[in-house]
Amino acid sequence: MPAAPLRLGLAGLGTVGIGVVKIVQAEADLIAARTGRRVVITAVSARDRSKNRDADLSGYAWEADPVALARRDDIDVFVEVMGGHDGPAKASTEAAIAAGKDVVTANKALLAHHGQALAEAAEAAGRVIRFEAAVAGGIPVIKVLTEGLAGNRIKRVMGVMNGTCNYILTRMQSAGLPYDQVFEEARQLGYLEADPNLDVGGIDAGHKLSLLAAIAFGTRVSFDQVELEGIGSVSIDDIRLAEDMGYRIKLLGVAQMTGRGLEQRMTPCLVPIASPLGQLQGGTNMVVLEGDSVGQIVMRGAGAGMGPTASAVMGDVIDLARGLRIATFGIPASALVEAQPARAATPAPYYLRMTLLDKPGALAKIATCLGDAGVSIDQMRQYGHEGAKAPVLIVTHKAAPDDVAHALTRFAATGVLVGDPVAIRIEEV
Ligand code: NAP
Ligand code: HSE
Repeated sequence: MPAAPLRLGLAGLGTVGIGVVKIVQAEADLIAARTGRRVVITAVSARDRSKNRDADLSGYAWEADPVALARRDDIDVFVEVMGGHDGPAKASTEAAIAAGKDVVTANKALLAHHGQALAEAAEAAGRVIRFEAAVAGGIPVIKVLTEGLAGNRIKRVMGVMNGTCNYILTRMQSAGLPYDQVFEEARQLGYLEADPNLDVGGIDAGHKLSLLAAIAFGTRVSFDQVELEGIGSVSIDDIRLAEDMGYRIKLLGVAQMTGRGLEQRMTPCLVPIASPLGQLQGGTNMVVLEGDSVGQIVMRGAGAGMGPTASAVMGDVIDLARGLRIATFGIPASALVEAQPARAATPAPYYLRMTLLDKPGALAKIATCLGDAGVSIDQMRQYGHEGAKAPVLIVTHKAAPDDVAHALTRFAATGVLVGDPVAIRIEEV
């Protein structure tokens, strides 16, 4: 007797939802061949039933309310691709779990805010939540972490996980345009989220990093502990000068377990131009995983868009069709430990840019501030003169972030500084 089909209830018929419909319809036979059963959509939900969605939805029941969809007896898996960390996404995901359905979601915001509670509820109900599409779009990073690298202790997780920010930074660099102009371009191209601060403020990428950190280090999702800094203050001057020193600026996520606790940061960092991260152009994502046995793995691919995101959703659906059931964050939710947050204290070289008054002893005063704070200079460059002012660039040897911050506070008292200095961490990649 043929196996019973796996029946999906699809909440959300936007970019991702319609991508899922297209794959389910176009690849029905391939999926059946790979899983041994058919995967079908039973019912769908969105806000506006009359909208033209460029897909044939006539065979699916319509539910105006995603919570009602989640509770239907004729679905096995609730696919949540609506978005939002509260409201209908949360209510319908909770309803699905309570009704005994597995859940597949692309919603990083939902899991970054409520991942622990939802994972506990799912496990109590004997269900699973899968969320490959929520992190780095089409890159199957969650599968790699939970399955392929399950025999490793993960040392560090790094990555560029917001395509919009990488588009803006690489466009500034290649066209020599200032941030505001490229931001406007990105808006016109439709790259920005409805709330652009989710992208340029680093929040969207921070959500993603917090989910990877939970899997990598067996800790409860702790998005509120991610050190966040967006790209709004990255200047074209820094992009040009960093390039001159052999670096590119990326909105880089880094999570690592240190002796002091879990360090999670999503901040602008410099990376060497020649590194894979330094070479990453446009709206592409890259995730770098480091395990004790495997060493370093680099994955690059589309972080957004209909095809790549639906590909990730379908990877999760197909796992469920095959009977592969892995705990939401790789280990039982009850075994996840509270992470001790460690604000970035891992020493790193720093890029410092400042404008000094061009007078005797100015540089010596700055060097003294650095030396007194225990920060050693590796390279230094002075760029001509602008009247009585001189732009100066310093790259330090590895230094503790607190020591660098301490030195910067002492710069002001030297009386030789014009404006505020800029300090950007150089990540060893
Ligand atoms: P979208 O194009 O804006 O589509 C959202 C869909 O959800 C729409 O069909 C909308 O209905 C429906 N919806 C919203 N509120 C609803 C409600 N209260 N009841 C029923 N339906 C509701 O969004 P998307 O880009 O597909 O993103 C969906 C999710 O995937 C989000 O969590 C997003 O963060 C995540 N994601 C997206 C991408 C990407 O490339 N787009 C990549 C990775 C992850 P109407 O169409 O009727 O308005
Ligand atoms: N706004 C996100 C990005 C979409 O630019 O990467 C995918 O999460």
